[in-house]
Amino acid sequence: MRTPIVAGNWKMNKTVEEARLLVFDMSRKLREIEGVDKVLCPPFPALLAVSALLQGTDIGMGAQNLYWEEKGAFTGEVAPNMVAEFCKYVIIGHSERRAYFGETDETVNKKVRAALAHDLTPIMCVGETEDEYESNRTGEVVRRQISLGLTEVDPAKAASLIVAYEPIWAIGTGKASSGENANAVLADYIRPALADLFGADTAQAIRIQYGGSVNGSNADEFFSQPEIDGALVGGASLKKDDFVAIVQAASKS
Ligand code: 13P
Repeated sequence: MRTPIVAGNWKMNKTVEEARLLVFDMSRKLREIEGVDKVLCPPFPALLAVSALLQGTDIGMGAQNLYWEEKGAFTGEVAPNMVAEFCKYVIIGHSERRAYFGETDETVNKKVRAALAHDLTPIMCVGETEDEYESNRTGEVVRRQISLGLTEVDPAKAASLIVAYEPIWAIGTGKASSGENANAVLADYIRPALADLFGADTAQAIRIQYGGSVNGSNADEFFSQPEIDGALVGGASLKKDDFVAIVQAASKS
């Protein structure tokens, strides 16, 4: 049995003060919900303040990116050990980073391995564009992203990985995939690609989230699917009632 995991990707939203207010507002309700791992991923400047508010709770924190080098002359970047000071999780290879910041399967792989070397849990994102979806290339795309993104990952550490399947056409569009379609992508392509790399047992242990326009009303549809182990939530993670409803839905799945 895989414990579901719901993570809120705040993207480039919330100042430190706004982040404090949002956490203050939602953490009491979130703490009452059991049977699901809960994660908040604020922007870098808010990590310190949010980690202080989450101390002693069962709510985890993640960063939205890191750089793979240990330290040095890399202006504007954040090293893995700097992330690991505060965070247990780190989102890697989000489609927005691939689209706007030149990330490739190769750089995603360096980041995943750097995160694991620092005992961070990577949430590695994969997913196809609308064009790829319409030309039936989803399988080919996500298989490539998994096999290149996770190449040379230590099999002993692979079970702790999290993969987020986020079809790009469903991100921020209000046009979520159907639960059935997302489940099929996980069952037919993602878990088999993980099994090719790490063996069937480890592939069964790896948690795979769905992401893309998940909200309080459609969350059940995803969590009732056998392969979907939670959600990576964007817009709705900035709204207390929606995010709490999503976490509640996961706890009942
Ligand atoms: P939305 O939930 O806003 O569609 O964003 C999904 C996402 O990109 C999470 O990483």
